[in-house]
Amino acid sequence: MTVRVEVHRPDAWADAVADELAGRIRAMPGIRLCLPTGDTPSPLYEALAARAAAGDVSFADATIVLLDEYLGLAPGDPARCDERLRRELVDRLDPPPRAYHAIDADGPDPDEAARRHDAVAAEGLDLVLLGLGANGHIGLNEPGSRPEDPTRVVRIAASSRSVAVERYGADPPPTGGITLGIGRLLEAAEIWLLVTGEAKAGILARALERPEGPDCPASYLRRHPNVRVAADTAAASRLSSGVAR
Ligand code: PGA
Repeated sequence: MTVRVEVHRPDAWADAVADELAGRIRAMPGIRLCLPTGDTPSPLYEALAARAAAGDVSFADATIVLLDEYLGLAPGDPARCDERLRRELVDRLDPPPRAYHAIDADGPDPDEAARRHDAVAAEGLDLVLLGLGANGHIGLNEPGSRPEDPTRVVRIAASSRSVAVERYGADPPPTGGITLGIGRLLEAAEIWLLVTGEAKAGILARALERPEGPDCPASYLRRHPNVRVAADTAAASRLSSGVAR
């Protein structure tokens, strides 16, 4: 399996990916999209919201499914994935998307919330966008995750908890999370892995160029027949020339 890797200049990355995504939505207005949060997709959502505001693309018939959510953060905490995706994209879309499915992190039964969210994803995902964790996670499928793992309640790695606190401003730290499982993600028609910045260069090379394994859940994406990596030059800097570009 050859993973397609597209490499853009850092200052052109967000516009290039937003153009591709807007084109995909125009071609399939009823698209069912699974979207991540984090620092990587933020500039992409900014560029996408600008295109929507300019009338270049409409989400009116599109369905957005949130990838993952923290547990243990208060409702309205700006570090929550739902809050962040609404702030950066969903609430900026006018008309709004046909449907937006967040994850219920406040109910009495997180396992049931995971099952309900999984049922939404099981209706089909045309395109899944993912960030790449510094530890190789995708969603909150942390190291140790297996490709057949279901959508579930997870413990999050200490490093991911630090990211939530130090970069995303979570206070108190999240106690866990709910994530779509790798198995469900691999059922999507198409997957784009979004990777920017020098700090991700090593883990991206590990994900793509060393044998797949649970130490790097993103490595399992290579099982998918239609996965592309949208990287910037910094993130791609440690890939060998053997990778298709
Ligand atoms: P980041 O997070 O985009 O904020 O680096 C990516 C991830 O952990 O999935």
